[in-house]
Amino acid sequence: MKLKFGIIGAGNIAPVHATAIQNIKDVELVAVAANHLERAQALTSQFGGVAYRDYKELLSQSDVDIVTLCVPHFLHAPLTLEAAAAGKHVICEKPMAISLAECDTMIAACNKAHVNLGIIFQGRFEPLAIKLKKAIDSGELGRLLWVSANVFWHRTDAYYDSAPWRGTWASEGGGVLINQAIHALDLLLWLTGTPTRVIGRIQTLNHQIEVEDCAMAMLEYANGQMGIIQATTVAIPGFPERIEIYGSEGSAIYHKGQGQLEWHFNDASRNHVDKVEASSGAAQPMDITAAAHTAQFKDFVEAVLEHRAPSVDGKAGRSSIELIEAIYRSSRKNIPIDIPFQEDEA
Ligand SMILES: NC(=O)c1ccc[n+]([C@@H]2O[C@H](COP(=O)([O-])OP(=O)(O)OC[C@H]3O[C@@H](n4cnc5c(N)ncnc54)[C@H](O)[C@@H]3O)[C@@H](O)[C@H]2O)c1
Repeated sequence: MKLKFGIIGAGNIAPVHATAIQNIKDVELVAVAANHLERAQALTSQFGGVAYRDYKELLSQSDVDIVTLCVPHFLHAPLTLEAAAAGKHVICEKPMAISLAECDTMIAACNKAHVNLGIIFQGRFEPLAIKLKKAIDSGELGRLLWVSANVFWHRTDAYYDSAPWRGTWASEGGGVLINQAIHALDLLLWLTGTPTRVIGRIQTLNHQIEVEDCAMAMLEYANGQMGIIQATTVAIPGFPERIEIYGSEGSAIYHKGQGQLEWHFNDASRNHVDKVEASSGAAQPMDITAAAHTAQFKDFVEAVLEHRAPSVDGKAGRSSIELIEAIYRSSRKNIPIDIPFQEDEA
């Protein structure tokens, strides 16, 4: 069966989706919708399909099986609900949504419509991330003691001015945490588990925006493991992101943005560095290739054909929003926040 795709949104990331679709055998792009019709047309002239100004027309096109969402954050939840109601499987760009409550409505709507929901976290499909995950899960690093995600990126004022949805709570849903650092946060959660308590601080230090351009958080885990998150878009010129894992048997430093994974053990003869080609959005948002998106799309297509959930489903996508919402709540109320949330911490 040849699955057919429709893409909603035709800005920065949409060509990466179109390329991923083109890279997969036996699938086809049949429609693109964007409220700037000329952008949708630019994509269909290169990759094929019909262009629409109104996404509702795409959703009513009966041969569209899978809809991918490349739209501003505040549209992720409502468009997922509409796509699911139209019987389409949904691949939604990160972040899953701008609140945990929205994530839950998305999961419920897709379950009710018996369609798959996948959230793009292409970092999980990169070879070094997979290698690190296997090493942690197999106990090679021992008991995890200390973990961190470090995102010292730079975004210019022009970047925040480039689209009206950027830099506001209502439409971006947050700042560096929910937009840029979320890839590293998702990896940290996937690799090292969910913390049970979070103390967070956010600030807006060097941009004329409502949302945070600086964030830090202390993480406590049920097993005593500790963690730190540092994330900013004020660090000139922007440094490749890094995830650090310190375990009882060894350490792994994942220079994700540089495609390097350092291994350190008590027996120094085992120390080594794995390297792959890599790029980072540290300075330029679109400094990414379609390779990891292709791998994630392939997993999603196989999941639809095999009637199983995709590897990064709604539950997985939800976890980074839970962590980010905990950091925002903690910073706003100046208290530690427990995960899962307690009613009185809303
Ligand atoms: N996975 C990644 O590495 C990565 C990289 C960049 C962006 N993203 C994510 O992709 C999403 C889109 O980001 P972008 O940078 O491409 O944004 P963008 O502003 O460049 O593009 C947004 C697109 O949505 C369209 N749009 C807006 N409202 C619409 C509506 N009501 N109906 C139809 N189309 C509408 C706009 O016309 C535009 O084509 C965001 O969630 C962003 O976080 C992910």
